[in-house]
Amino acid sequence: MVISSCLIFAVYSIKLILFSIGGEEPIPLPPKRQPISSRKPSFPSNIFNTFDDFVNTYIDPPRKSCVDPKYVLSNNFAPVDELPPTECKVVEGSLPSCLDGAYIRNGPNPQYLPRGPYHLFDGDGMLHSIKISQSKATFCSRFVKTYKYNIENEAGFQIIPNIFSDFNGLLPSVTRSAITLARLIAGQFNPTNGVGLANTNLALFRGKLFALGESDLPYAVKIALDGDIITLGRHNFNGKLVKSMTAHPKIDPETNEAFAYRYGPFPPFLTYFRVDPNGIKTTDVPIFSIKCPTLFHDIAITKKYAIFSNIQIGMNPIKFILTGGSLVGMNSRKISRLGVIPRYAKDESEMRWFDVPGFNNLHAINAWEEDGGDTIVLVAPNILSVEHTIERMDMIHGCVEKVKINLNSGVVSRHPISTRNLDFGVINPTYVGKKNKYVYAAIDVPGFNIVYAINAWEEAGGDMIAYD
Ligand SMILES: [Fe+2]
Repeated sequence: MVISSCLIFAVYSIKLILFSIGGEEPIPLPPKRQPISSRKPSFPSNIFNTFDDFVNTYIDPPRKSCVDPKYVLSNNFAPVDELPPTECKVVEGSLPSCLDGAYIRNGPNPQYLPRGPYHLFDGDGMLHSIKISQSKATFCSRFVKTYKYNIENEAGFQIIPNIFSDFNGLLPSVTRSAITLARLIAGQFNPTNGVGLANTNLALFRGKLFALGESDLPYAVKIALDGDIITLGRHNFNGKLVKSMTAHPKIDPETNEAFAYRYGPFPPFLTYFRVDPNGIKTTDVPIFSIKCPTLFHDIAITKKYAIFSNIQIGMNPIKFILTGGSLVGMNSRKISRLGVIPRYAKDESEMRWFDVPGFNNLHAINAWEEDGGDTIVLVAPNILSVEHTIERMDMIHGCVEKVKINLNSGVVSRHPISTRNLDFGVINPTYVGKKNKYVYAAIDVPGFNIVYAINAWEEAGGDMIAYD
């Protein structure tokens, strides 16, 4: 798999001395497995798989290209196998001996070829690493050994359904939910161990590396001395994190705190929290001013505030029931808004919301304060035609904007930075929450596989300048 759903990568040039800070849940490991070819599914498994095949063939075959594995898993997105640590040949020049670190990328890559609908976001998390040390480069690809991955690896077939593609429309949802319930009753999986894919992002926090997906807890991983990628376990921050966490926490490089949240289909639809410098998760701050399920994919921080984007993407039950579309959809009557809450708020009493019509950012690039703290600046790609986010990703366009909020007057101003189609922007992590100058972002080409360095906000410079 060449690209990820979020294409967020961790680049770090520090020494790879990763130490345990506690909090991993032991991964329920399956017994030693037989080669897949020699294992036979149990009788109940045969029945469940037969029903699965019936639904995939007669009730809900992949009708749309966005969930048709023939299209989704083609070209750049074709599945790849694991690759053990493999030394790369230096084709030209030499690697400086002072380089000591790794470039790591996360992305979805299905363990088994789908037998029915499959969306790009449904793949198991796979990490690709290039470790550079002692003038050698070592490449490695490993699945994140999530609970889902492990039980399905042992079974030899998929057990847990695809969240983005298996529940489009009422009848497919009812039938697949029934099969999933039957598998649960038969003891094929235990949802309390988490069913996440850890396929969305990577974060480096307190010297520990995490693979993240927003439907589960983070998985701690490490790069071994030989370049191998090891999954350490599901991380619960000393037992304090019991539910899911965003895949895009923001880490203040000066205070060593992580600012995070979770969201879901039931109230409270958004819950804010942080992890202190000692790795302890703080008390939840439920945000009851969110009145309906909404997609919150990213967060931004400044020195004083955390910023949430309440966009027009949420749940769309009417389309889901009547047309068989995705449960996730756009509410065109909703006005997008930005929520600003003090970083150390104990409740939402000081949270303020500012209407920003038509501003739908899935990712935030950075934010900071100006005018002595009276103005908040947020830089983020506003997704034009956001209604295509799930089903027609080829039609969305990320227009990077600088949004300014005057906290005294409540006035919001918007300044487009570029007309280019950009997203997945990252910055030098030492500038998180502070004004920065450079962004590294993907520009829209087939497969999102070009990354540009862009000069994002030279005040007098106008449009961004792109560098190869
Ligand atoms: Fe993302």
